[in-house]
Amino acid sequence: MSSIPLLKLENVFKIYKIDDLPVKALDGVDLVIKKGDFLSVMGPSGSGKSTLMHIAGCLDIPTSGKVILEGENVSSLGEKELAKIRSTKIGFVFQSFNLVPRMEAIDNVQLPLIYAGIKTAERERRATETLIALGLKERLHHFPNQLSGGEQQRVALARALVNRPAIILADEPTGNVDSHTAKEIMEILTKLNKEGNTLIIVTHDPEVAKWTKRIVKIKDGKIEN
Ligand SMILES: Nc1ncnc2c1ncn2[C@@H]1O[C@H](COP(=O)(O)OP(=O)(O)O)[C@@H](O)[C@H]1O
Ligand SMILES: [Mg+2]
Repeated sequence: MSSIPLLKLENVFKIYKIDDLPVKALDGVDLVIKKGDFLSVMGPSGSGKSTLMHIAGCLDIPTSGKVILEGENVSSLGEKELAKIRSTKIGFVFQSFNLVPRMEAIDNVQLPLIYAGIKTAERERRATETLIALGLKERLHHFPNQLSGGEQQRVALARALVNRPAIILADEPTGNVDSHTAKEIMEILTKLNKEGNTLIIVTHDPEVAKWTKRIVKIKDGKIEN
C-alpha cells in the first residue's frame, strides 16, 4: 500500500462573507485520509461538516490552507480543473438522493460516465453491473418515484461508484430514511469499504457513526481531538 495519504487537508480555513461580515466555517482543519479509510464526521448543525465535505470533494476551494488529493495540490485550481477532478476521482452521495426524477435508474447511474466521455454501450454495461452489485437488478428501468427511499439511495450510491472514484463522500446519507433503511444503507457502505473503497460520511446519528472505522468530531469549524 502506498504511504502517500489519499487526501490531506493542511491548516484549512474557509471564511464566507455575508454582507462583508466574515463567517469562519472552517478554522484550521488538519485531516489525513488513507486508502481504505471509512470515517464519519460528526458535529452539531452549523459546525462546518458540509463545508468540509465540499472542500474535500473539490466542490469548493479553501480560503487558505492546502488540500492534497493523490499527491496533487488542488487548493487553488479553477472551476474547470476542479470539475475534471470531481468527475474522475470523487463520488458524491446526498441526503436527498439528488436523482434526476425523469430518468430511469440506469440513466441516472450513467450520468457521470457521460461527463467522462464514455460511449453508450460501455456506459450501459457499467451502470447495469453497478446497479446489480447493489441489489437493484429488478429496478434498472424504474423511475425514482417508483422506488423506496432505500432503493433511491442505492441508485445514488451506484451513481457515485460507477466511475470507480478514489473517494466517496456522503453528506447525511441516512438523513432522509427510517432506521431500518439506514441500517441497510450502512451495511452496503460497510461492504463497499471491505471491497477497498474509501468512504467519508457526515452524520448526526451515533448509531450510524458506529458502523465506521473512525469518528472525527467537528465543532465551530475545528476538529476536536
Ligand atoms: N455558502 C455559504 N455562505 C455563507 N455562509 C455559509 C455558507 N455555507 C455555510 N455557511 C456557514 O458556515 C457555517 C458552517 O456551515 P455548514 O458547513 O453548512 O455546517 P453543517 O453542515 O455542519 O451544518 C455555518 O455558520 C453556515 O451558516
Ligand atoms: Mg450540513
